[in-house]
Amino acid sequence: MTSFDETFQSAYAFNEPCIEVGNVTRDGSPRADLTIRVPLRMFNRHGLIAGSTGTGKTRTLQLLAEGLSRNGVPVFLADVKGDLAGMALPGVVNDKLTARMKSVGKDFVPASFPVEFFSLTGARGTQVRATVSSFGPVLLGKILDLTDVQQSVLAMVFKYCDDKQMPLLDFADLRSVLVYLSDEGKAELKQYGGMSGATVGVLVRKMVELEQQGAARFFGEPELEIADLMRTSSDGRGIVNILSLADVQDKPRLYSTFLMWLLGQFYYRMPEVGDVEKPKLVFFFDEAHLLFEDSSSALVEHIEQVARLIRSKGIGVFFITQTPKDVDEDVLAQLGNRVQHAVRAFTAKDAKNIRATASTFPESEFYEVDKLLTNMGTGEALVTVLNPKGIPTPVASTQILAPASLMSAVDDSVYLQAIAMSSVAKKYATPIDRESAHEILKRKLDEAAAVEQVEPPPPPPRQSDRAPWEAPDEAPRRTTTARRPRKEKSAVDQIFGSRMAQNVARQATRTVTQSIVRGIFGMLKGR
Ligand SMILES: Nc1ncnc2c1ncn2[C@@H]1O[C@H](COP(=O)(O)OP(=O)(O)O)[C@@H](O)[C@H]1O
Ligand SMILES: [Mg+2]
Repeated sequence: MTSFDETFQSAYAFNEPCIEVGNVTRDGSPRADLTIRVPLRMFNRHGLIAGSTGTGKTRTLQLLAEGLSRNGVPVFLADVKGDLAGMALPGVVNDKLTARMKSVGKDFVPASFPVEFFSLTGARGTQVRATVSSFGPVLLGKILDLTDVQQSVLAMVFKYCDDKQMPLLDFADLRSVLVYLSDEGKAELKQYGGMSGATVGVLVRKMVELEQQGAARFFGEPELEIADLMRTSSDGRGIVNILSLADVQDKPRLYSTFLMWLLGQFYYRMPEVGDVEKPKLVFFFDEAHLLFEDSSSALVEHIEQVARLIRSKGIGVFFITQTPKDVDEDVLAQLGNRVQHAVRAFTAKDAKNIRATASTFPESEFYEVDKLLTNMGTGEALVTVLNPKGIPTPVASTQILAPASLMSAVDDSVYLQAIAMSSVAKKYATPIDRESAHEILKRKLDEAAAVEQVEPPPPPPRQSDRAPWEAPDEAPRRTTTARRPRKEKSAVDQIFGSRMAQNVARQATRTVTQSIVRGIFGMLKGR
């Protein structure tokens, strides 16, 4: 036996439940006797699937999702192009697929999977919703493309609403609060570090723009509950939750932030479970470069933190991108399982990219990684996974197995049928409109108007920006110079408002108000 055979036989011989990925190739031919597998237990150590367009990333994702589902693990997939919806239908036998499987001594056995479709627009799947409040100022700021200053003003607006116990549920709430604060409520801003009314005005405009793009329907209640994504079917297979994103491809900020929100929900709401036999859920984030593109360093730092901490909650996260360089270095270091498809080089920049990609792989005794990177065929990849001891396995050039379900987009009828049969879809079918900031402010303004009508007009207040119902200050009002901007805060404090969160938390323990704590994405937790 050669050392090549010995290496790959022993390195991937795990004596525990695994998902098979493919077969080791040597000199371009697959070896039926040398299989590459990932221990089920190691899926919470996250992963990266990288490669140029058309090299097989989505099919690798599909294969892993199938394996997880078969093992009773629910998954959540971001379906950017609509070509993962085929998982609802069995694959179609053809010569190519038959030959691919035959080459490793297997039959191609088509199978469909239990899917549940979700959508940000409600078009091809159950409408997902999040409240503005739980979404938080940081992620909302990213969708709205805010500057740092605008971002901190938005954070203050959230704090204001927390303080006043005005729930921000839907877009109307946030719009009403912003409109109010830029007009009648201007004076109230003073207590919040002198937010500029002009900035609030900009926020109003940006919100209206976003609303016009139809994003508003996604904010509100009932909010998506993570328990609904963690189901298994009656035959024990994990549900494949597919977020259909093809219709919002032009709004990458909306869906990348939604996915971050969702990850945050898992992070906050799942109990610590340590290392588990199999993951509770695995998350596949296609087009993950969108997450890191023009993200503030603080946001990236926190993506890294969530990735690190979510592991002990039994959640795995796989990023799918064109090159490992799309993913922040600190996040990359958290991704234990790696499937690197071919990198197609056309320009000098591509060549540089290949060297950079090769450098993120461990040295190989048997393969010339950089050569393989450009020469691998479709559905082939360099693979290294974590063994049960958490040690990376030797890099293997691998022919990936074919997924059993359909590898293409599907007709609307497939979505419609799945939605019609879904109990989850029914739960979220009708939006709820509880009393929240919009209604509270409307009442406040109506009452003020009524008071003005019955009473003789009060003498004009000294400060013209004081609202009619506002009690006069006990202490003499400070002049404009009295309140200076606070000292420079760290980037993390500025954006995530850790001090703000602490203040709110402290206040919550003092009073019997709801305990609202904003965590690392500025999201609500621990309600
Ligand atoms: N593991 C595989 N088994 C069978 N066919 C594959 C496999 N990987 C890729 N292919 C073929 O290559 C095509 C492109 O793969 P895809 O995963 O969509 O590429 P990417 O997501 O990298 O753009 C697929 O439609 C399929 O025909
Ligand atoms: Mg793809």
